[in-house]
Amino acid sequence: MHDTYKNKIVLVTGASRGIGKAIAYKFASQGAYVLGTATTEKSAQKISNNFKKKQLLGSGFVLNIAKKSSIEQFEKNIKDLDAPNILINNAGITQDNLLLRMKDDEWEDVIHTNLTGMFRMTKLCLRGMMKARFGRIINISSIVGLTGNPGQTNYSASKAGMIGFTRSLAKEVGSRGITVNAVAPGFIKTDMTDVLSDEVHESLLQHISLSRLGEPDEIASVVDFLASDRAAYITGQTISVNGGMYMG
Ligand code: NAI
Repeated sequence: MHDTYKNKIVLVTGASRGIGKAIAYKFASQGAYVLGTATTEKSAQKISNNFKKKQLLGSGFVLNIAKKSSIEQFEKNIKDLDAPNILINNAGITQDNLLLRMKDDEWEDVIHTNLTGMFRMTKLCLRGMMKARFGRIINISSIVGLTGNPGQTNYSASKAGMIGFTRSLAKEVGSRGITVNAVAPGFIKTDMTDVLSDEVHESLLQHISLSRLGEPDEIASVVDFLASDRAAYITGQTISVNGGMYMG
C-alpha cells in the first residue's frame, strides 16, 4: 500500500456507490483515513465493513447533505476525530424535467442538495483547514454545468453554481494554503447514467471523442491528483474529464 495520504483525513460525501465510492477507495488505498458518507445507516455500515475487509483505514457515517439537522449530527459524530484535511463534495442528485413542467420541489431539491449541501459541508470543514494552514477542497461538478442540457436547468444551474463557488472560495482561502478546485465529469458509468435508454446512450457516444462512457476510477484519478502535492499550485480550476465530449 502507498502512503501518499498517511495521516490525512479525507471526507467524501456520497461514498456508498459510483464516483464517490471510487474516490473513497483511491484515497484509502494510499493510506488516508477516509470518512465516507451514505444516506442510510445500512449503507454507512457497509462502507465501514468494506474498509475493514480490505484492511483500509476509514469508516462510514450517515449524512444527508440536504438536511441541516443531519449535517449537525454528522459534525457531532466526527468531533472526536481530527479535522478533515481534504474534502470531496461529491454527493449530488438529478431530477430532470423541461422547465415548463418543472415543479418547485424538483428545482429546490436539486439546488438544495447539490449547491447548499456543498456550501454547508465546506463551511463545516473550512475552520480546521484554516487552522492547519493546509486544505484541499474538490467539488464534483458536471459537464452540463459548462454546456447546459435540455431537461436539466435545475441540475446544470447547480453544477455551474459549484464552479462559481469554487473560484470565489479559491480566492478567499488561497493565502491559507488551501486549494479549491472542481472536476467536471462527462458521462460516467454509474447508477446515475444507468437510467439512460439505449437510444440516448447510442446518441451520446457519437459526441464522445473516445467513443465510450468514463469509469468512476477515471474521475477518482483526477481527484487524487488535485489533492496531491503535485497539484499544490492549482486552484480555482475546473478540470474536465469527459472523453473529449466538450473541449471548451
Ligand atoms: P450516484 O447516484 O451513483 O451516487 C450519488 C451519491 O450521492 C450516492 O452515494 C448517494 O447516496 C449520495 N447522495 C445523494 N443525495 C444525497 C444527500 N442528500 N446527502 C448525502 N448524500 C447524497 O451518482 P454518481 O454518478 O456517482 O455521481 C456522483 C457525483 O458526480 C454527483 O455529484 C453527480 O452529479 C456527479 N456527476 C456524475 C456524472 C455521471 O455521469 N455519473 C457526470 C457528471 C457529474
